[in-house]
Amino acid sequence: MTDGERPYGFATRAVHAGQVTDPSTGAHATAIHQTSTFVLGDVARGARLFAGDEAGYVYSRIGNPTVRAFEEKLAALEGADEAVAFASGMGAIAALCFSTLRSGDEILFLGPLYGGTRGLFHDLLGRFGVRARRVDDHELASAVSPSTRMIYVETPTNPTLQIHDLRLVSEVARTHGVLSVVDGTFATPYLTRPLEHGIDVVIHSATKYLGGHGDALGGVVLGRKELMDEIRLEGLRHAGAALSPTVASLLLRGVRTLHLRMRAHCDNARAVADASLGHPALRAVHYPGHAQHPGHAVASRQMNDFGGMVTLEFTGGRAMAAAFLESLTLFDHAVSLGDVSSLACHPASTTHQLVDEPLRLADGVTEGLVRLSVGVEDAHDLVRDVLQALAVAARKVERAPADH
Ligand SMILES: Cc1ncc(COP(=O)(O)O)c(C=O)c1O
Repeated sequence: MTDGERPYGFATRAVHAGQVTDPSTGAHATAIHQTSTFVLGDVARGARLFAGDEAGYVYSRIGNPTVRAFEEKLAALEGADEAVAFASGMGAIAALCFSTLRSGDEILFLGPLYGGTRGLFHDLLGRFGVRARRVDDHELASAVSPSTRMIYVETPTNPTLQIHDLRLVSEVARTHGVLSVVDGTFATPYLTRPLEHGIDVVIHSATKYLGGHGDALGGVVLGRKELMDEIRLEGLRHAGAALSPTVASLLLRGVRTLHLRMRAHCDNARAVADASLGHPALRAVHYPGHAQHPGHAVASRQMNDFGGMVTLEFTGGRAMAAAFLESLTLFDHAVSLGDVSSLACHPASTTHQLVDEPLRLADGVTEGLVRLSVGVEDAHDLVRDVLQALAVAARKVERAPADH
């Protein structure tokens, strides 16, 4: 999107890209085309539409104007040729894998991964002969084997907020001719645009910051046109996790304020992380904006700010984490993230409950870990809430010894 000479800035694209004024009524807001099918006209036109020889819509699983508006907005923000929208983040990741992998192929991933993605890679794709192997960043270059087809990474990671170097991933993938994929859910295109770092494909759970209001599930895959066309034809058309037009409209509205919300999320997370640092109830505050975070230098290079997530690691185990969580008043105890309203969760008992304990601990998901999705409320209210709950947790450990 340009003004004819210069590309528009991020905020202008967030507000305007993809928006459609209805030509028949002049309605300014992009219409919700709540229809399953589209009238084809004469048989010759129907045949042309189905063959892809004429542009147009035929059936909402394959394409819908409201969903298209969301795809165009996301492509403009991410700097992608093309985007394909899905009913959820997992729908997007699954469709990407179905479209690009074959039996015998290997996915190399830099851990840790969101539990759902780990389940898809190991439990589901494993049954179809696709192998997923975790490697550390420093061994990535030497780990690529003849069967490697994809290098997959999240950054920042869920829930420990590790940072992976996108330049390293894209260089290794390019050298070996394999597909590089980044789950950018935690960063959003406002903070990091992986395609600018040479990454091939970006996926998002739009359920989180893109939608931003905790009322809609969605996902999106972005990259070069040829590959996105394949994903639309195979992963979307045949696997069928299509985004509903009504939900697309909610997501479209959410993305229009992404830049405003992300600034507030980042500022508030910084305030919460700074206020928590050094508290006697905590072993660590995981926040990539702190100089002592192991990924701080890479995050400073590849992110515009450090995001809205802060993960606290208590000196005690579950009892202490529970005392903290149950004492919070503004942060609701719930999974998910990226909502305007603050959320807190205990990954060991929820999102990572099904991961085997040794694996969970190796990923740093201890019983004393609490993940905060810091909302856009007033920073001073959030800080006060966290500090009073930390004080309760600190008293808890005096009465009961650590359980982990
Ligand atoms: C990093 C990440 N990727 C993907 C997903 C899956 O997204 P969805 O819940 O929209 O299917 C999640 C969900 O929490 C996530 O945190």
